[in-house]
Parts: sequence; C-alpha cells; structure tokens
Amino acid sequence: MKDKLAIFSGNASREQAEGIARYLKLKVGDATVSRFSDGEISVKINENVRGKEIFVVQSIYPPADNLMELFILIDAFKRASAQMVAVVVPYYGYARQDRKDQPRVPITAKLVANLLSTAGADRVITVDLHAGQIQGFFDIPMDNLYAVNIFVDYFLKLNLSELAVVSPDVGGIKAARAYSKKLSASLAIVDKRRITDKEAEVMNILGEVKNKNVVIVDDIISTGGTIVEAARALKDKGVKDIYCAVTHPVLSGPAIARIDASPIKELVVTDTISIAEAKRHPKIRVLSVSSLLGETIRRIHKGESVSSLFK
Ligand code: R5P
Repeated sequence: MKDKLAIFSGNASREQAEGIARYLKLKVGDATVSRFSDGEISVKINENVRGKEIFVVQSIYPPADNLMELFILIDAFKRASAQMVAVVVPYYGYARQDRKDQPRVPITAKLVANLLSTAGADRVITVDLHAGQIQGFFDIPMDNLYAVNIFVDYFLKLNLSELAVVSPDVGGIKAARAYSKKLSASLAIVDKRRITDKEAEVMNILGEVKNKNVVIVDDIISTGGTIVEAARALKDKGVKDIYCAVTHPVLSGPAIARIDASPIKELVVTDTISIAEAKRHPKIRVLSVSSLLGETIRRIHKGESVSSLFK
C-alpha cells in the first residue's frame, strides 16, 4: 500500500491529514503550500507522485483561500502525472445553497462541484453532506460518510437513561431517526421557522421530552441560533440534561457566546473543521473522524466496500 498511496493536505486540514496518515501508517506527503508576496497561493509538490493514488485532505470553509489551495493542489498533482486524485473534504462548505429557493440566487453547492471536477478531481470523499442530493452534482464517484457511529459510541458510554433524540428542524428527521434507533431512544422534532440567516425561531416540539435527557442532532452549527433556540424550547418543556451532536463546528459570529449562555450541557462535534476555541472550550467535546476517513481511503485503495462501514 505504501508504494502507491499518498496523503497530502492544504493548510485547512493539516491535523486531519496527520490523523489519517497515522491510521494508514503513512506520513503526510511533502508539499509546500504557501503564499507569493502578493498573496497568491504557491504550491510545490516536493516528492515524486507519478502513477500514484493521491488523497488530498482539505475542508472547505472560510477563507476562500482554502478552496483555492485545493484547486491548485489538484492541478499540481494532475500535472505531476498522479494516476488518480481524490479530494477528501471532511466539511463540504457552500453546501447550504443547494437550490434556487428565491429568485436570482446562485447554487453554490453545484458551482463548487463543477470547479472541483474542472480542476481535475477524480473522486470526492466527504462527511455528513448537508443534503444527500448534492452527490448528484458530481459526475465522478462521491463517498458521503456518516459520523453517526462515532457519536453513538460516545453517547452509549455516557449511559444516559430516559433518552430522546431531537431533530432541530424537519429536514433533519432522517438523520435523527438513525441516531434514535442506534441509541434505543425516542424521537422528537422541533418545528422551526427561520427568521433570517442569523436567527431562528422555534415554533413547537413534536414528541414526548418531559423529564428526559435529550441529544439534539444536526449536521452544522454555524451561528448557533438553531441549536440554542431548540435547547431553550426543550428546557421550557421540562427536559433534564441537554446534549448536542453536531458534525461540523462552523461556529461563526455569536455561536460560542450563545452556547455559553444556553442550557446546553455539552456540545459534541467532530474535527471536520479545526477550531482552536472549540478544543479548549469546557462545554465542547471534539471527536475525531480521522480513523473513519483513513479506513475509507484504505477500502477505496483496496477496492473494498465503503457502505459496509455503516451497516
Ligand atoms: C440547517 O438546515 C442546518 O442543518 C443547520 O441547522 C443550520 O445550518 C445551523 O445554522 P445556525 O447555527 O446558524 O442556526
């Protein structure tokens, strides 16, 4: 495996790439991703990659330079005669604009898919894609992995009694159902109405939650509005402890302050986005998806099933 397979990364996901390489008993490949004096991105692959299977790890989150680094890395590997370039995007950003839900708006999830393919990506691996249909925006293989088992293992160890899994909006019901089955918990739904992109207003709780411990499940926490409003509404309904399981800790703007002031006992996230503040925050627990990504890469390399990881 060592001869053919190589893991590289841009600056957004260096730690993630190290974790993946550790799992595969490899070293992250030698590439310099820096800046020219005018700020343009400079990439140099410092080792031979001719005929290799390259897995480039880079999450897509601001600044946009992270995305640009990824395009330029792909281009460099193609021109260096790599046999295959797979992009490992633990967090696929720009995914929330995935349809024209109002006039004169872009579909950025499709735009980014086009740009990755044009740059030369041969396949994409990601975790908890915001909407499964985004896979259809690609005409190359895309593996959408699920973090559910990582969270479930964590919550099973907490041994929480009388547990309910809560979806903070109707769109998250399918994912929440998977959690509730694996945790043998009941299911509840927050009927949420969004006021602006920064504020969410909770309407109603569907399902029995009184005197239960709850785990609110979501794919993204950005401003924290959705989760914190849901937590407050649940507290008003008389729940016991409130935990949250959120794959991608975007944690923008007022998110941390909102979590601090909320009745949330613990916010459990993954390391698809590296946020230093999350790692040292007393209410936030970060679980790693490196082994999941590493095992997926191993299976792709060996031609083994990836879907069987989730059965
Ligand atoms: C919405 O569809 C997503 O699943 C998240 O609930 C949303 O993106 C979270 O955003 P915020 O933290 O800003 O409310």
